[in-house]
Amino acid sequence: CGIMGYIGYRQAQPILINGLRKLEYRGYDSAGIAVCDGKSIAVRKAKGRIDALVEKTEKSGLSGSIGIGHTRWATHGRPSDENSHPHVDQTQKFSIVHNGIIENYLEIKQELIEQGVAFSSETDTEVIVHLLSREYDGDLLAAVRKVAGKIRGAFALGVMSEYEPDKLIAVRMASPLIIGVGENENFIGSDIPAILEHTRDVYVLEDGDLAVLTRDSVQVMSLATDEPIERDLVRIDWNKEQAEKDGYAHYMEKEIYEQPRALRNTMTGRIDEAGQKVVFPDLQLPAETIRSIEKIYIVACGTAYHAGLIGKHVIESLARIPVEVDVASEFRYRRPLFGPNTLTIAVSQSGETADTLAAMREAKRNGSVVLAITNVVGSSIAREADEVITTNAGPEIAVASTKAYTSQLIAFYLWGMYLAQEKAALAPAEIASLIQSLQQLPGQVEDILAHAQQLRQFAEAIKDERHLFFIGRGIDHAVSMEGSLKLKEISYIHSEAYAAGELKHGTLALIEEGTRVVALSTQDALHEKMISNITEVKARGANVLGITHEDHVDLHRSVDDVCLIPKTDALFTPVLAVIPLQLIAYYTSVVLGNDVDRPRNLAKSVTVE
Ligand code: G6P
Repeated sequence: CGIMGYIGYRQAQPILINGLRKLEYRGYDSAGIAVCDGKSIAVRKAKGRIDALVEKTEKSGLSGSIGIGHTRWATHGRPSDENSHPHVDQTQKFSIVHNGIIENYLEIKQELIEQGVAFSSETDTEVIVHLLSREYDGDLLAAVRKVAGKIRGAFALGVMSEYEPDKLIAVRMASPLIIGVGENENFIGSDIPAILEHTRDVYVLEDGDLAVLTRDSVQVMSLATDEPIERDLVRIDWNKEQAEKDGYAHYMEKEIYEQPRALRNTMTGRIDEAGQKVVFPDLQLPAETIRSIEKIYIVACGTAYHAGLIGKHVIESLARIPVEVDVASEFRYRRPLFGPNTLTIAVSQSGETADTLAAMREAKRNGSVVLAITNVVGSSIAREADEVITTNAGPEIAVASTKAYTSQLIAFYLWGMYLAQEKAALAPAEIASLIQSLQQLPGQVEDILAHAQQLRQFAEAIKDERHLFFIGRGIDHAVSMEGSLKLKEISYIHSEAYAAGELKHGTLALIEEGTRVVALSTQDALHEKMISNITEVKARGANVLGITHEDHVDLHRSVDDVCLIPKTDALFTPVLAVIPLQLIAYYTSVVLGNDVDRPRNLAKSVTVE
């Protein structure tokens, strides 16, 4: 999660630890450092807070002026001393820290084990350092290149070797990394705050960049071709607070913009190389059990519950298995019915929500297999579930959930497709075509984010409203519920999400001249029906913002404003449609001067029932 590296004339240990402390705000579950004194590499690492690491270094400190440090936020393997970084090879001559996910680590690990390598952790990262040690032939740079050619996935790396104690190597591939340039000393950081107290001059590496750092030089080059690359030296004039938010005004804004990366991370390692099949290498569920599932319960709270509502549509439509979605706090008090082949899916960003945990325990007591979809490896829900799909969205700090929601949706898509594939409910070609659309989503989210300004104007327009409506049909109704919740949570403006066809049965009474309505129409099959519902509210004086995809520009004729999203498969539209809704909530909260990241009365994780 956090990387810090140092090469220079001072003692590395305090600099590394201090840098890691500056990254604490990002969340982590363990920390470690490795320092080279020119002769050998020594490592200290500890599960828990950085203070636990400090305690270890106080007992026996590390001497040397080159080193790497890491705060880990578990993805593969629970939080533990062994799974913390830095990792070293068997000879202790090489050490690395890594952010990201190695997709093909299982096959590499198998090969290495067959060659006699003993692994000391459960991480995907460890394969890198063993590969490095095997590839080393007197040239660290060449070895790093060879290893990078073998691993697939996302990786930001800090590498050092006792054989070449005058350099640090940094690599960036789909996981951020920066180089801080000092006087007779240079730094590696996953984030600006790590290095800010030492220097404000940085190179921001791009995907496919490699950098060689010595005490007095930084050379950036292409990982693939060896060619030197000129990156601009950027002067960072952010203060500490701005730096923690990557220059964004709030964590929520940062997390909204992190979604393309989060979505890619959720997909990483779960689609085969040919893009034809969904794979879940971590799941142990026997194929037999999967094929025999007759009913699914989804239990969750808040935003995760809203993801579950989409999950129902997805699983029912792809795998043709009946799904019920329950608010976790209601679930166990309604005596739910369990058959012998019921699967329960508990969805929770934090993995610590007491209501969800209690619902999940109720399911287990009733003999149900429990699958958790969570963002936090090693959390209570992850530990108690039979199987876990981690969303890998990275730590979410803002109370109002954004990237956790969209990555939960991706988890549901993958899971729904996987069930369909294993049950042969869809033809292989249909799965392959869905995978193709799924892989386009992160780029499509980027496109929407590039036009965020339009929604700032909408936020200005609604800031004094007392109530709003979000309407939609089918899957759009489920997305509306999330949009409405976002707005309520952080703007404190009351809103209601309504199934568009149901308005006329009561709620239409509340529509009057000027009432603001956000209408979602992303489903081709329901578009005409939506136009009728929009006409119903327009006729009573409503002011409507329509959200639709590019094929339905005709919506212009029926509404006051239109926000267009790119076209995707009908089931995948929630990932795109929710982005404008998140932005509306965010900008409205900003315009109103609210505490965006910490709305009143709410907590990020609620551990009481
Ligand atoms: C709290 C948060 C919500 C969140 C819900 C479920 O109420 O304020 O934003 O959606 O908990 O959290 P979880 O961590 O279980 O997804």
